[in-house]
Amino acid sequence: MMTNTVNQLSEPHHPRPQWRTRMGFILAALGSAVGLGNIWRFSYLCYKNGGGAFLIPYAIALFVVGIPLMILELGLGHKMRGSTPLCFAKVDRHWEWAGWWAVNCAMFGIMVYYAVIIAWCVSYVFFSFNLSWGADPNDFFFNQYLQVSASPGNIGDIRTPILFSLSAVWFLSWMIVFFGVQKGVERANKIFMPLLFVLILILVAWSVSLKGAAIGIEKYLKPDFSLLSKPQIWIDAFSQIFFTLSLGFGIMMTYASYLPRKTSIIKDALMITVGNCLFSFISGFAVFGVLGYMSFTTGLPVEEVVKESIGLAFVTYPKAISLMPGFANIFGVLFFVTLVIAGLSSAISLVEAFASAVIDKFHYPRRVIVSVVCAAGFFGSMVFSTKAGIYWVDIVDHFITHYGLVAIGIIECLLVGWVLKSEKLRDHINHVTQKSLTPAWDVCVRFVTPTVLGILLINDLGKEIAQPYGGYSWMAIVLIGRDWLLAALIVSLFVAARHWKRDLEVVEVIKK
Ligand code: PHE
Repeated sequence: MMTNTVNQLSEPHHPRPQWRTRMGFILAALGSAVGLGNIWRFSYLCYKNGGGAFLIPYAIALFVVGIPLMILELGLGHKMRGSTPLCFAKVDRHWEWAGWWAVNCAMFGIMVYYAVIIAWCVSYVFFSFNLSWGADPNDFFFNQYLQVSASPGNIGDIRTPILFSLSAVWFLSWMIVFFGVQKGVERANKIFMPLLFVLILILVAWSVSLKGAAIGIEKYLKPDFSLLSKPQIWIDAFSQIFFTLSLGFGIMMTYASYLPRKTSIIKDALMITVGNCLFSFISGFAVFGVLGYMSFTTGLPVEEVVKESIGLAFVTYPKAISLMPGFANIFGVLFFVTLVIAGLSSAISLVEAFASAVIDKFHYPRRVIVSVVCAAGFFGSMVFSTKAGIYWVDIVDHFITHYGLVAIGIIECLLVGWVLKSEKLRDHINHVTQKSLTPAWDVCVRFVTPTVLGILLINDLGKEIAQPYGGYSWMAIVLIGRDWLLAALIVSLFVAARHWKRDLEVVEVIKK
């Protein structure tokens, strides 16, 4: 009741942008969820964790964490009509800092390195034309393109070829977000998402028609149920669901705040989550079809040709492309263009979540904020385009996705479940949607989801203390990983302590 009054009061001063169509919103949210991770990470995890058997913990994770949290983020964003810090502050002013932490992690944690990986993909689109990686793609990627230094502390200079592509990535992200919700984000996703769908279908059809594709696909999906008793498979499934659905960054909350009052949150949450997971599943055929082909032509078993994430895209795939008969370079171009588009549609959501928060709190014009934020982000990205960049990408990614986001996920559940009271949000969702959300959702939000996320967090911390991540020195882990998270936290506490220019003052007046 009170919040409705707040919305009515705050709107005439500060009209919130709105999506032009429901489809525009769904495509934008899907654009954020479908990213680089769907194409290489999901299929690799599936292969590593018992093939088809992995789909069981993955589906359970989708139902226990993915869908309830997606409904929570969409519901809260829609009810409070605000970016993440504003939503959190409207629930309880003391928790505003967590909202800032989420968007700070998104912008200055994820986006700054995500842009660099997209930049590598941009370079590889061009390298594909004449298969520039030659006979040794591994040497080409690490020694010629990245010129990787000996350790994270040896930064070396900035690699100009990366800087060049990086400028293009930041320019495009800036331009799209600059034009606003309808004319920028929505319009871009209306082009990107259908294009991405067509591209992935072409890649899948092409890959499965290659000789030996079946060998790879068998490896990808052959179930080994005995692995289900291992905790690791469950941990991988839950953390993948969290990252792949872009949860915990406040992106979905921000996107939902641009929805009209009458909407269908539950149906939309289902479409976004299931659509994203189906996209991952389908991409797996393209990835493993090619690996099967490679194993067939080289005579090596699939186990030896498969590599995780970055290695898969920039080393194994180029190797396979070079082996392909006819139009191999076109396959390469299509593959890397697919990655660039998947990456860009996620990148703009990261910038939008941050920009929207600053606009809500300080009321500066969008275009000024977006320009300043993108310029700062571009400079922030530079450290990741140095010779030590790949180490930094790896460490920052590990800390933010394993700790920052999971911690924010827990805070979201506690805040909505216990401070706001989940039935209040459920009533709101049921009021604006045709479907009805059952109290089982409350149980998830209050108990199940935070418990599962808590177990993930403790397990990761335990592993970290036993052995520093990735074999890096403690110094690198502490200075780059932990301190990055802490710096984001300190900035968040500082920003949260500042006064709101409008919306929240209205809340406070009403509370009195
Ligand atoms: N969902 C994206 C992926 O799977 C990752 C991402 C998370 C991107 C959050 C943007 C925001 O690649």
